[in-house]
Amino acid sequence: MEIMIKGKKTIIRPIALEDAEVFTKWWNNGEVMNSVGYPDGLGITEKEVRKDFEKEITEREQGFPNQRRFVILNRETGQPAGEISFSKRDYKKRSVNIGIKIGEPSEQGKGLGKDALQIFMNYLYERYNLRSIQLDTLAENLEARRFYKDLGFEITEKVSGYWTDPEGKERDVIFMEHRRASESLVKRLEKRCSVRDFAKEPVAEEIIDEILEAGRLAPSGGNEQSWKFALVKNRKLMEKIADNAYNQVWMLDAAFIIVLVTNIVPDEKGGRDVQLARYPEFEERIENLDLHFYGRINQEEHQTKIPGTLMMLAALEHGVGSSWVSYFNVNKLQKILGLPQSEIPSEILVFGYPQRPMKSTVKKPMESILLRYE
Ligand SMILES: Cc1cc2nc3c(=O)[nH]c(=O)nc-3n(C[C@H](O)[C@H](O)[C@H](O)COP(=O)(O)O)c2cc1C
Repeated sequence: MEIMIKGKKTIIRPIALEDAEVFTKWWNNGEVMNSVGYPDGLGITEKEVRKDFEKEITEREQGFPNQRRFVILNRETGQPAGEISFSKRDYKKRSVNIGIKIGEPSEQGKGLGKDALQIFMNYLYERYNLRSIQLDTLAENLEARRFYKDLGFEITEKVSGYWTDPEGKERDVIFMEHRRASESLVKRLEKRCSVRDFAKEPVAEEIIDEILEAGRLAPSGGNEQSWKFALVKNRKLMEKIADNAYNQVWMLDAAFIIVLVTNIVPDEKGGRDVQLARYPEFEERIENLDLHFYGRINQEEHQTKIPGTLMMLAALEHGVGSSWVSYFNVNKLQKILGLPQSEIPSEILVFGYPQRPMKSTVKKPMESILLRYE
């Protein structure tokens, strides 16, 4: 399903190859391009624009294009009115740069730009849980500066001679930033839900690394850290995993999967001994449990829920959704992943950008679950 961002006056959707024609017209129009420093237009051919679009369209599903461009449509007529894009995504700072232009001269001055920018910013903030949005404009473009200021952007820097225009003249550039009030973890959790419908958008390595790191830092009984994390991006392997999870095919659209693996720990290191301490009334039965069977149902297995939960939260911080999967054949998954007998796949976590904004599922009211001892 294609992304469609709807405003009062505009609709925004990702560029398609057919848009190359109208973009070429806009980019070659000196009057439109004057405000960005090209009074004679770019002098570009439709073939060149198409090639550029082709590259971006392929990349956006498989990799990370430098820039993601979208078309602004006039909501009333459905006709292209301009372009809006984001680039320079910074995963650590959780920020992006954006650019906007109403390319169709007859559509200027109707408030389409403001409408489009607002809904686009909301979309980016929500989807990637960004902290800020940056942009830059020629210092002399006072109209644009006012427009951005009205929307809450503040000047962060003015750099003299930052850009050399096609005629070799140095131009001053203003950098502006819009910040979003930070949202508490609980507020974010209020919107969380298990995501099983994923957008065709990969998740950057930087984010995956952070998710894994959150798991590595998890607490564990006796600090055993009796786990391993199997990161799966290989499509064929994902198919086998979904098939083995009793055909939960929704997993196939995920960006990646992490299988949480439990290492069976020896009794004296906390394995069966912990259970004996917790349930002394079952001492004999616990002692007599076959080790292989015990290894599969012991408490250690539950410990991986903790790194898994931290991973889920780390993902959420970047707008990446997830779902747990416990419903699978453990023995078969162990074989699929080529794990030794002592390493048991205990949980599957499935990650990706949600196709639709997350919305919390119904939760029990606090009064029904809280026991107070005061
Ligand atoms: C340990 C665990 C195992 C789960 N296993 C599955 C599963 O196999 N398949 C699935 O679609 N959802 C699975 N879920 C997701 C639950 O169905 C979901 O968390 C629950 O319905 C509450 O919805 P929410 O996560 O949107 O709040 C699992 C969740 C947990 C915590």
